[in-house]
Amino acid sequence: MSTAISPTAYNYKVVRQFAIMTVVWGILGMGLGVFIASQLVWPELNFGLPWTTFGRLRPLHTNLVIFAFGGCALFATSYYVVQRTCQTRLISDSMAAFHFWGWQAVIVGAIVTLPLGYTTTKEYAELEWPLAILLAIVWVTYGLVFFGTIVKRKTKHIYVGNWFYGAFIIVTAMLHIVNHASLPVSFFKSYSAYAGATDAMIQWWYGHNAVGFFLTTGFLGMMYYFVPKQAERPIYSYRLSIVHFWALITLYIWAGPHHLHYTALPDWAQSLGMAMSIILLAPSWGGMINGMMTLSGAWHKLRTDPILRFLVVSLAFYGMSTFEGPMMAIKTVNSLSHYTDWTIGHVHAGALGWVAMISIGALYHMIPKVFGRPQMHSIGLINTHFWLATIGTVLYIASMWVNGITQGLMWRAINDDGTLTYSFVEALQASHPGFIVRALGGAFFASGMLFMAYNVFRTVRASNPAEAEAAAQIAVVGAH
Ligand code: HEM
Ligand code: HEM
Repeated sequence: MSTAISPTAYNYKVVRQFAIMTVVWGILGMGLGVFIASQLVWPELNFGLPWTTFGRLRPLHTNLVIFAFGGCALFATSYYVVQRTCQTRLISDSMAAFHFWGWQAVIVGAIVTLPLGYTTTKEYAELEWPLAILLAIVWVTYGLVFFGTIVKRKTKHIYVGNWFYGAFIIVTAMLHIVNHASLPVSFFKSYSAYAGATDAMIQWWYGHNAVGFFLTTGFLGMMYYFVPKQAERPIYSYRLSIVHFWALITLYIWAGPHHLHYTALPDWAQSLGMAMSIILLAPSWGGMINGMMTLSGAWHKLRTDPILRFLVVSLAFYGMSTFEGPMMAIKTVNSLSHYTDWTIGHVHAGALGWVAMISIGALYHMIPKVFGRPQMHSIGLINTHFWLATIGTVLYIASMWVNGITQGLMWRAINDDGTLTYSFVEALQASHPGFIVRALGGAFFASGMLFMAYNVFRTVRASNPAEAEAAAQIAVVGAH
């Protein structure tokens, strides 16, 4: 049965490269997160230098964790999943290599330009036009490799994980290209093609769908492959996964205006964004339930398998943040939460609890397979990592809830004569303990990544390429 399959059935090289860089960028991006969190506790850490100030390092943190860490995790897993579920090698090795090196070049460009202060000022789209163009070219190459591989697949149907990865690729390309339309005035400066409220709306159509398609849909692709694989159970409901897919992608795209409540955006658009966000709860939870229920009959595995624990706890945080998000989109709730640390807590419930945890779980499953090892070097260290990540996330989000609600209530408190009860500085002082707890939680999470790096290093050092190739053959036969 397996004789017809060549030993180089899959391109695992690019998967290995992206997997390793996920860990490297994860440590740098989260380390920087801990650093900027510490700046909010001890402002002296700004060092009085322009390029080390919070304002310049914050966008570098978001670019590193979202695009470098999250991006590399998505590329590594999507190339792994598409080859295994289509039972075919990537359509082009050289294009995949260009994707890898081009993406690393964009990230290095971000590391150089953002601290120097070169920015479009649009959140999550800060990179100036030369880097934005390079990013677009690299992205289109990725799309060609991914969809080209699907076209040449040897299986009849397209596994649902690939649907999610595919939507993530198409929509991210669309968002990036539309939101980056701008007029360059020099090599390092451009101005947006849009003006005023239109510019804001396009930016948050981009921003929200970056969350929806980059930080959610892509990672759902990951979920649909790695949860059933690690649990050794078929996905709970294939039918639900199809409904989940279409409902999610048709609803997400309308929710952007919830970022612009009480602004110059027309009121009807704000209400539309609010309504669509509340409806979004349904497909989000549909997906979460589909993942969770895949474990029915296999719950006992959680006792012994820390990789499965990463995957399941990530789904719990996904469920939590997609419940919180629709609540925060209600205008009256948003009038309290907006501008406060509540938003930051919500972001990291999704970013640490969902995005980072599912990526870490998927990598622990995948790395031994692409490096020809039976399992990771140490299961005990994965367990340590799991607890550091979980405790770190809980400390982070709990402290930001307390801070956020404190800030919101203090800012809106007014005396009988209409004057403000508290000055802004008083609210800041009240936030200080929360900032300390958040920095501590972040340090927990980031130190877990160091355990991961050591574990990966030991696994890779003992790797056996011949066994990886042999495993690839078995995978072709055993894939979905
Ligand atoms: C049904 C799902 C979700 C809805 C309806 C939703 C809704 C919201 C709302 C209302 C805000 C606050 C906007 C503001 O006051 O400025 C927000 C902010 C944010 N959310 Fe969510 N959220 C959802 C899921 C998620 C998930 C899963 C993640 C991460 C993986 C996430 C990441 C973010 C980010 C990064 C921001 C901050 C944007 C910014 O101001 O820079 N959200 N979300
Ligand atoms: C060790 C882990 C981390 C720490 C300590 C950390 C810390 C921080 C801090 C201090 C901020 C600025 C908050 C503010 O302006 O008040 C921030 C913003 C942000 N971080 Fe993290 N972070 C971590 C991991 C991550 C990860 C893994 C992701 C994404 C996958 C992420 C995504 C973001 C985003 C999107 C924002 C901007 C939020 C907004 O504008 O509303 N972070 N982070």
